[in-house]
This record gives sequence, C-alpha cells and structure tokens, in this order.
Amino acid sequence: MKKKIVALTGAGISAESGLATFRGSDGLWEGHRIEDVATPEAWARNPELVLEFYNQRRAAARAAQPNAGHLALAALEQDFEVVIVTQNVDDLHERAGSSRVIHLHGQLFESRSSYFEQLVYPMASDRIELGDLCEKGHQLRPNIVWFGEAVPLMERAVQEAATADFFLVVGTSLQVYPAAGLVDFVRPGTPIYIIDPSRPPVASRPDLHFITEPGTTGVPKVAAELMRTAS
Ligand code: APR
Repeated sequence: MKKKIVALTGAGISAESGLATFRGSDGLWEGHRIEDVATPEAWARNPELVLEFYNQRRAAARAAQPNAGHLALAALEQDFEVVIVTQNVDDLHERAGSSRVIHLHGQLFESRSSYFEQLVYPMASDRIELGDLCEKGHQLRPNIVWFGEAVPLMERAVQEAATADFFLVVGTSLQVYPAAGLVDFVRPGTPIYIIDPSRPPVASRPDLHFITEPGTTGVPKVAAELMRTAS
C-alpha cells in the first residue's frame, strides 16, 4: 500500500507564481486591510468593494501558472497517496495535477448564495456582480471562508493529518486558526517537513525538518528525498 503524504499549504507556495501573500511587509493584502475585504462585516458594509476585490483576485489567479512547488507535490502521486490541505483559494494545485485538494478557506472559482450557504456554484464567468442571484433569489458571494466564519472542511483535514505518514507544511505563516492547529494532529514519530524561507512557529518535536528556502526549490528537494524512501 502506498504511504500517505499530507501537505498543508499557504499563500507562500503561490508567491512565486506571482500571487501576493497576506502578511507582506506592509501588513496589507493587495492594498487592503484584511478586515475591509475578507470578513462578514466587510460584506455587510460594502459588498461592491468585496466583490470587486475577489473579481481582481480571480483575474490574477487566472493569469498565474503553477510553479515547481505545486508541480512537485502533484508528481508525488506517482509513488504516494497525496492529500493537499490548502488555505489558498486559487486553483494552482489542481492545475498542477493534484487530484485530492481540500480547500479549507474556500475556492475563488466558486460562488455561493449569501443566504443558503449550501448553494454553491461553479463560476459562470470570472466575475460576480451585485445583482447576480442564487436560484432562491439571494445575492451571490464568493465561496470563501472569511475571518470569523466556520471552517466546514476542518474535520476532514484533521482526519487526513491524523493518518499521514509524512506531513509537509509549505508557505504558511501558521498565524490563522484552526488551520494552523493541524500540525498538532500529526501522529508522534511522523516526519514533518517545513518548507518556508522564514520559520513558522511549530513546537519542537523529533522528526521536524526545516527547509529554509522558497517553495520552488524546497518542495522539489523534499519530494526527491521522499521518492527515494519510497523506492
Ligand atoms: N516559498 C515558500 N514560502 C514563502 C515564499 C516562497 N517563495 N514566500 C513567502 N513565503 C512564506 C512566508 O514566509 C510566510 O510564512 O509564506 C508564508 C505566507 O504567510 P501568510 O501571508 O500569512 O499566508 P497564509 O499562512 O497562507 O495565511 C493564512 O490567512 O489571510 C488569511 O485566509 C487567509 O488563507 C489565508 C490565511
């Protein structure tokens, strides 16, 4: 039976594809404070601004290409069962060829009813406008988990983390819970590889490996090492 790799990824893995991380040096996300564009309060206050913000994120994601980090994770499926748990809302893991991707914080290319949260739709175009309605007549919003909202896929992600044989953490500052807490569910003795140019806070444990480099070099390196153990 193939061993299981679970990779928790964050904005850093898409940084070298040209998509901005959240906690850059200016503390702003593409010129906005997170509270102004990624909270239910922002949506209530100024839905037009929120829709336009995500319309722009969608255009940027559409123009971006998967990089060597995404591709190396996808290639691991040759030798391993691989589950990606991503905090990213872009589709670069899927476009790199990963077949099992859990989007903890939702997906840019889906819309959902602002009233019935189970009404989720693939995007008909790359934009959501004010006046675009769900089948029950309510405004559509991005299918994104905003700050302060529940994370419905967390339970599934915990189950994956708890059954991993290898756990990777790529390009996340581990500042946002519950996602950041996934590492705590990894079984004792399971090797954990942290690939990030700056070290996120992870409690020291045996079998913790820091690869202090960008994803495009760090992930292929770790992938090559794991492939060696598989053969
Ligand atoms: N390769 C790998 N990691 C990188 C690279 C790179 N080329 N460039 C930057 N990083 C790292 C940074 O060092 C940092 O640790 O990526 C991480 C990005 O952290 P954040 O911007 O905080 O992004 P993330 O952890 O994904 O944020 C989590 O917060 O805003 C919310 O919901 C949003 O999903 C997001 C969540």
